[in-house]
Amino acid sequence: MIRKANVGDVKKIQKLVNYYAKRDRMLPRSLNELYENIRDFFVYVEGKSVYGACALHVDWEDLAEIKSLAVAKSKCSSGIGSRLLEECIKEARSLKIKKVFALTYVPGFFEKFKFSVVDKKELPHKIWSECIKCVYFPGCKEIAMMREI
Ligand SMILES: CC(C)(COP(=O)(O)OP(=O)(O)OC[C@H]1O[C@@H](n2cnc3c(N)ncnc32)[C@H](O)[C@@H]1OP(=O)(O)O)[C@@H](O)C(=O)NCCC(=O)NCCS
Repeated sequence: MIRKANVGDVKKIQKLVNYYAKRDRMLPRSLNELYENIRDFFVYVEGKSVYGACALHVDWEDLAEIKSLAVAKSKCSSGIGSRLLEECIKEARSLKIKKVFALTYVPGFFEKFKFSVVDKKELPHKIWSECIKCVYFPGCKEIAMMREI
């Protein structure tokens, strides 16, 4: 089932995200960052195991970011990623957010959900100030994708 995350999920979310981060498929997240932003997260759980995670982070009056979307390799292609993304979009709508974006290496997945590629320069300055702190700046190959909701 999909539910909001709690602090007990943090280490499991980190393991999931950092599995892909080590393979250069997404950005790593520190425990500190995950605890501070735990209210952003949804998780897909079966029993005590966390098999999927996705966060919605509000950036500005009309804009939120989809972050740290990851599904355990053993559970990929069974619709979990779609369900997590849909939960985040639903929450964004309930917060009256008008647009959601993602910085991603898998544009094909987001295209299925009506996201379109945008120039990173279209993202607000606030996002760039975060990018500057990232270890991959300025050589980052993530693609910016946006969708109106
Ligand atoms: C990308 C990811 C979240 C997809 O999750 P998933 O649970 O496997 O996806 P779903 O089963 O919900 O797939 C939904 C659709 O997206 C497609 N899809 C899945 N991964 C895709 C990819 N990498 N590229 C293009 N399309 C993809 C599926 O084929 C499926 O299409 P269909 O409905 O026509 O059959 C998952 O593969 C993952 O964790 N990847 C590694 C981490 C990552 O890249 N995260 C994104 C960071 S922004």
